[in-house]
Amino acid sequence: MLVTGGAGYIGSVVTEELIVAGHAAVVYDDLSKGHRGAAHPEAAFVEAGLDDGATLRRTLEAHRIEAVIHLAASSLVGESVVEPSKYYRNNVVAGLKLLDAMRECAVRRIVFSSTAAVYGEPEKQPVEETDATSPTNPYGQTKLAFEGALRWYEGAYGIRYAALRYFNAAGATTRFGEQHDPETHLIPIVLQAAAGHRTHVEIYGEDYATRDGTCVRDYVHVVDLARAHVLALSVLGERSAVYNLGCGGDGYTVREVVEAAREVTGRDIPLKVGARRAGDPSVLVASSEKIKKELGWSPQFESLREIVGSAWGWMQSHPNGYES
Ligand SMILES: NC(=O)c1ccc[n+]([C@@H]2O[C@H](COP(=O)([O-])OP(=O)(O)OC[C@H]3O[C@@H](n4cnc5c(N)ncnc54)[C@H](O)[C@@H]3O)[C@@H](O)[C@H]2O)c1
Repeated sequence: MLVTGGAGYIGSVVTEELIVAGHAAVVYDDLSKGHRGAAHPEAAFVEAGLDDGATLRRTLEAHRIEAVIHLAASSLVGESVVEPSKYYRNNVVAGLKLLDAMRECAVRRIVFSSTAAVYGEPEKQPVEETDATSPTNPYGQTKLAFEGALRWYEGAYGIRYAALRYFNAAGATTRFGEQHDPETHLIPIVLQAAAGHRTHVEIYGEDYATRDGTCVRDYVHVVDLARAHVLALSVLGERSAVYNLGCGGDGYTVREVVEAAREVTGRDIPLKVGARRAGDPSVLVASSEKIKKELGWSPQFESLREIVGSAWGWMQSHPNGYES
């Protein structure tokens, strides 16, 4: 299996789960955002970019790759709005280089990290796969464009795909955790405040029509996500598919995340309530009924405390991240 972006947060855990499941894995990453220490030591490592077609083809052939798990992408929503060119080049143009290399080397299976950002501001919750897609930023739009390419490449070249749409991956394993720069995800930000690396956590609005006035979001443990990627490989022998991956149910408010982090860490987490951010919907929760029914996926880490606890555990054992 080739894991593009395998030195990133989710890719490191996907590689770990592939190896646990008995697959041989090759990590393909240009380390633009990832960390060498996040590339699984039992996987071969190729440091190269998606836009390097020759290295892609060489890697697919030399390792006799059977399937690709494609996580490499640019994925900062705010950045995508001010620098759409970067997002179209990396998530679409470079992504097509990967698909063309697969076509040339007769590799016909791919699991793609899509995102629930393809839905934009959904009309109903929880969001289902059949709901309208209407991204509100270039990040979501480029992921949707790549899904479109997958559909047409399947028709013309027989490359089967599973596109997994998820919102917030969270949590860690003993070995691999989340280290982004800049960090934009709520759980690591809250834990950085608990660890004293930030003065406070800013809450963007507490006047939403939700349980406690703060926004409701969906969090899935990174191990559950990674297992879904491994499971999705099994469907590709027969057909292509699009699946949401979310916690379903009621999701969690920002204040509930902070409270869980206070309980887990036993530390104070100073808060500042600011204004709403433009374009922030009050609730974003994905339904995972389809993947549960069709592939038997079931999340093993459903409680927020467990998710936050695992992230805190990794931070404690890696005080300097992958540099330690
Ligand atoms: N983290 C989340 O909550 C979340 C939610 C929904 C979707 N996703 C998607 O999941 C994937 C992984 O997310 P993540 O949080 O692990 O991100 P990440 O930034 O930690 O990992 C991405 C990895 O891809 C590598 N990369 C980027 N562009 C590359 C290129 N052109 N060539 C080679 N390597 C390249 C980076 O160096 C990095 O190691 C992304 O596609 C993202 O859009 C993530």
